[in-house]
Amino acid sequence: MHRRGFASDNNSGVHPAVLDAMNRVNEGHVVAYGDDPYTAAAAEKIRKELGAGAGVYFVFTGTAANVLGLKASTENWNSVICADTAHIHCDECGAPEFFTGCKLLTVSPPDGKLTVDLIKKHMHGFDFEHHAQPKVVSVTQATEMGTVYTPDELREICDYAHSLGLLVHMDGARICNAAVSLGVPLADITGGAGIDVLSFGGTKNGLMYGEAIVFFNRELERNFKYVRKQGMQLASKMRYIAAQFEAMLTDGLWHKNAGHANSMARLLADEVSRIPGIEITQKVQINGVFAIVPPEIVPGLQKEYFFYVWDEETSEVRWMTSWDTTEEDIRGFARLLSEKMK
Ligand SMILES: Cc1ncc(COP(=O)(O)O)c(C=O)c1O
Repeated sequence: MHRRGFASDNNSGVHPAVLDAMNRVNEGHVVAYGDDPYTAAAAEKIRKELGAGAGVYFVFTGTAANVLGLKASTENWNSVICADTAHIHCDECGAPEFFTGCKLLTVSPPDGKLTVDLIKKHMHGFDFEHHAQPKVVSVTQATEMGTVYTPDELREICDYAHSLGLLVHMDGARICNAAVSLGVPLADITGGAGIDVLSFGGTKNGLMYGEAIVFFNRELERNFKYVRKQGMQLASKMRYIAAQFEAMLTDGLWHKNAGHANSMARLLADEVSRIPGIEITQKVQINGVFAIVPPEIVPGLQKEYFFYVWDEETSEVRWMTSWDTTEEDIRGFARLLSEKMK
């Protein structure tokens, strides 16, 4: 048995209800490439949570969801404004630039959250042919720093972007964790706040694989079926992604899984903040804890409970919890950390 660590919510396994759902659809033949009743039902379930008018397209990975959502929103002379910590900027191997041709323009918020004031820095050069034309503001909810935007904060960004003719993309790899943290429906922090296109994350919340691109702005959806196919994300056996989303959106599993992961991070933060010398660096709002840890004890900790160093220079580490993290995991880790800090 592999020990659970705190490296990533991608390191956890698949929720049993999700595996069961995949098994249930594993019978007979249905038409491939998404033209099947399971895919239609799962898309309908997503519309129920996010908004009746939304367009839903399943893909395999979060990177694909981001890249194709951006591709649908841009021409290759555009620019996309995002935080310097954004997954699209740091962790997608340049795929957004490669596939869209767009320039990513970054700002540096201390907590991963864009604001209108930060975005303003890049709001110039409109109609000037020497300048990549600003077209999309990309926010991550919850952010890569474990923080969340309130519905009002999102609305302010969306209103501002729209007033200048820009669109708003949301990387929602952890949208479920954000909704639970805020205590609001998923719709209030997505289409309801003015988001045009969302990467709706599933993998980090107990799925085996699968994300959905959700268009609230249906104009962007024009020709999208070709974009997804050219982007190599049209799953032939789509029913297996659909079944996973169906399970996640049945009996509140999305809420239960995300809520559990969030509360484990809260417990971890409470436990480690009692240890002298450990400094928590970000608000703990979802399933991640950021802290400064003396660099010399990091390898010993990682050997027992694997995690990543977020910033080598400051020795800031990131501990992520997951739907399957247990209280014993947290207490065991806190005990070890406390011993190493003596
Ligand atoms: C904020 C964020 N967006 C998107 C992703 C999805 O990435 P992947 O392409 O690995 O599924 C991740 C995964 O780590 C993430 O943390």
